[in-house]
Amino acid sequence: MDAIKMLKKQHREVEALFKELEKAKSANPRRKVFEKLADALAVHATIEERHFYPAAKKKQTEEMVLEAAEEHLEMKRVIADLLELEPSDPVFMAKVSVLKEDVMHHVEEEEGELFPKVQKLLEDEELEAIAAAMQETAEVLQREGVPRMSVPSETSEAAHV
Ligand SMILES: [Fe+2]
Repeated sequence: MDAIKMLKKQHREVEALFKELEKAKSANPRRKVFEKLADALAVHATIEERHFYPAAKKKQTEEMVLEAAEEHLEMKRVIADLLELEPSDPVFMAKVSVLKEDVMHHVEEEEGELFPKVQKLLEDEELEAIAAAMQETAEVLQREGVPRMSVPSETSEAAHV
Protein backbone atom coordinates (compact mmCIF):
# COMPACT_ATOMS: atom_id res chain seq x y z
CA MET A 1 0.00 0.00 0.00
CA ASP A 2 1.32 3.46 -0.75
CA ALA A 3 0.53 6.58 1.24
CA ILE A 4 -1.69 8.19 -1.38
CA LYS A 5 -3.80 5.06 -1.89
CA MET A 6 -4.18 4.73 1.87
CA LEU A 7 -5.32 8.35 2.31
CA LYS A 8 -7.75 8.09 -0.62
CA LYS A 9 -9.23 4.93 0.87
CA GLN A 10 -9.78 6.79 4.14
CA HIS A 11 -11.44 9.65 2.23
CA ARG A 12 -13.95 7.16 0.77
CA GLU A 13 -14.62 5.74 4.24
CA VAL A 14 -15.26 9.22 5.63
CA GLU A 15 -17.63 10.04 2.75
CA ALA A 16 -19.57 6.85 3.47
CA LEU A 17 -19.85 7.82 7.15
CA PHE A 18 -21.25 11.25 6.23
CA LYS A 19 -23.91 9.53 4.11
CA GLU A 20 -24.73 7.19 6.96
CA LEU A 21 -24.95 10.11 9.37
CA GLU A 22 -27.34 12.01 7.11
CA LYS A 23 -29.56 8.94 6.90
CA ALA A 24 -29.71 8.46 10.69
CA LYS A 25 -33.02 9.86 11.81
CA SER A 26 -32.76 9.88 15.58
CA ALA A 27 -30.31 10.96 18.26
CA ASN A 28 -28.87 7.57 19.21
CA PRO A 29 -27.80 6.33 15.77
CA ARG A 30 -26.62 9.85 15.00
CA ARG A 31 -24.38 9.86 18.06
CA LYS A 32 -22.95 6.45 17.19
CA VAL A 33 -22.14 7.32 13.58
CA PHE A 34 -20.80 10.75 14.50
CA GLU A 35 -18.43 9.22 17.05
CA LYS A 36 -17.13 6.84 14.39
CA LEU A 37 -16.74 9.69 11.93
CA ALA A 38 -14.99 11.98 14.43
CA ASP A 39 -12.56 9.18 15.36
CA ALA A 40 -11.84 8.50 11.68
CA LEU A 41 -11.24 12.20 10.95
CA ALA A 42 -9.06 12.62 14.04
CA VAL A 43 -6.84 9.67 13.11
CA HIS A 44 -6.71 10.73 9.47
CA ALA A 45 -5.69 14.30 10.35
CA THR A 46 -3.03 13.18 12.82
CA ILE A 47 -1.33 10.72 10.50
CA GLU A 48 -1.36 13.22 7.64
CA GLU A 49 0.08 15.97 9.81
CA ARG A 50 2.67 13.77 11.44
CA HIS A 51 3.90 11.79 8.44
CA PHE A 52 2.43 12.78 5.09
CA TYR A 53 2.55 16.59 5.10
CA PRO A 54 6.16 16.88 6.34
CA ALA A 55 7.28 14.44 3.63
CA ALA A 56 5.10 16.08 0.98
CA LYS A 57 6.24 19.61 1.79
CA LYS A 58 8.63 20.68 -0.94
CA LYS A 59 9.15 24.03 -2.60
CA GLN A 60 6.46 23.24 -5.17
CA THR A 61 3.88 22.08 -2.63
CA GLU A 62 4.57 24.22 0.42
CA GLU A 63 1.60 26.54 -0.10
CA MET A 64 -0.81 23.65 -0.62
CA VAL A 65 0.46 21.78 2.42
CA LEU A 66 0.17 24.84 4.66
CA GLU A 67 -3.36 25.46 3.39
CA ALA A 68 -4.23 21.82 4.03
CA ALA A 69 -3.03 22.14 7.64
CA GLU A 70 -5.17 25.28 8.07
CA GLU A 71 -8.17 23.41 6.67
CA HIS A 72 -7.55 20.67 9.22
CA LEU A 73 -7.67 23.34 11.93
CA GLU A 74 -11.08 24.53 10.70
CA MET A 75 -12.41 20.98 10.66
CA LYS A 76 -11.10 20.34 14.16
CA ARG A 77 -12.91 23.44 15.42
CA VAL A 78 -16.21 22.23 14.00
CA ILE A 79 -15.61 18.73 15.41
CA ALA A 80 -14.86 20.25 18.82
CA ASP A 81 -18.18 22.17 18.65
CA LEU A 82 -20.02 19.00 17.69
CA LEU A 83 -18.49 17.05 20.58
CA GLU A 84 -20.19 19.49 22.95
CA LEU A 85 -23.60 19.25 21.31
CA GLU A 86 -26.31 16.67 21.78
CA PRO A 87 -27.33 15.06 18.47
CA SER A 88 -30.91 16.03 19.33
CA ASP A 89 -29.91 19.71 19.24
CA PRO A 90 -31.28 21.35 16.08
CA VAL A 91 -27.86 22.90 15.44
CA PHE A 92 -26.14 19.50 15.38
CA MET A 93 -26.98 18.54 11.80
CA ALA A 94 -26.33 22.11 10.62
CA LYS A 95 -22.79 21.81 11.93
CA VAL A 96 -22.48 18.35 10.40
CA SER A 97 -23.32 19.95 7.02
CA VAL A 98 -20.60 22.57 7.50
CA LEU A 99 -18.12 19.87 8.47
CA LYS A 100 -19.05 17.84 5.40
CA GLU A 101 -18.53 20.83 3.11
CA ASP A 102 -15.15 21.53 4.73
CA VAL A 103 -14.08 17.90 4.38
CA MET A 104 -15.27 17.59 0.78
CA HIS A 105 -13.45 20.76 -0.25
CA HIS A 106 -10.29 19.53 1.47
CA VAL A 107 -10.53 16.08 -0.15
CA GLU A 108 -11.05 17.66 -3.58
CA GLU A 109 -7.95 19.81 -3.23
CA GLU A 110 -5.84 16.95 -1.95
CA GLU A 111 -6.90 14.47 -4.59
CA GLY A 112 -7.03 17.03 -7.40
CA GLU A 113 -3.86 19.01 -6.71
CA LEU A 114 -1.66 17.90 -3.85
CA PHE A 115 -1.62 14.13 -4.31
CA PRO A 116 -0.78 14.19 -8.05
CA LYS A 117 2.14 16.54 -7.33
CA VAL A 118 3.39 14.41 -4.44
CA GLN A 119 3.09 11.29 -6.57
CA LYS A 120 5.57 12.87 -9.00
CA LEU A 121 7.89 14.29 -6.35
CA LEU A 122 8.35 11.21 -4.17
CA GLU A 123 9.70 7.78 -5.02
CA ASP A 124 7.47 4.73 -4.65
CA GLU A 125 9.65 3.51 -1.77
CA GLU A 126 9.14 6.77 0.08
CA LEU A 127 5.38 6.57 -0.37
CA GLU A 128 5.43 3.03 0.97
CA ALA A 129 7.53 4.04 3.98
CA ILE A 130 5.13 6.92 4.76
CA ALA A 131 2.18 4.52 4.53
CA ALA A 132 3.86 2.16 6.99
CA ALA A 133 4.52 5.01 9.43
CA MET A 134 0.92 6.26 9.08
CA GLN A 135 -0.43 2.76 9.64
CA GLU A 136 1.64 2.35 12.78
CA THR A 137 0.55 5.69 14.23
CA ALA A 138 -3.10 4.97 13.37
CA GLU A 139 -2.91 1.67 15.25
CA VAL A 140 -1.33 3.33 18.29
CA LEU A 141 -4.01 6.05 18.35
CA GLN A 142 -6.81 3.52 18.14
CA ARG A 143 -5.25 1.30 20.77
CA GLU A 144 -4.55 4.16 23.15
CA GLY A 145 -8.14 5.21 23.42
CA VAL A 146 -10.62 7.55 21.83
CA PRO A 147 -8.97 9.51 19.00
CA ARG A 148 -11.70 12.18 18.77
CA MET A 149 -11.12 13.27 22.35
CA SER A 150 -7.77 14.84 21.44
CA VAL A 151 -9.37 17.14 18.84
CA PRO A 152 -10.47 19.94 21.24
CA SER A 153 -6.87 20.40 22.40
CA GLU A 154 -5.74 20.98 18.79
CA THR A 155 -7.98 23.92 17.96
CA SER A 156 -5.77 26.89 18.85
CA GLU A 157 -3.44 26.74 15.86
CA ALA A 158 -2.71 24.60 12.85
CA ALA A 159 -0.30 21.69 13.22
CA HIS A 160 3.29 22.56 12.39
CA VAL A 161 4.10 20.52 9.32
FE1 LIG B 1 -6.20 16.10 5.11
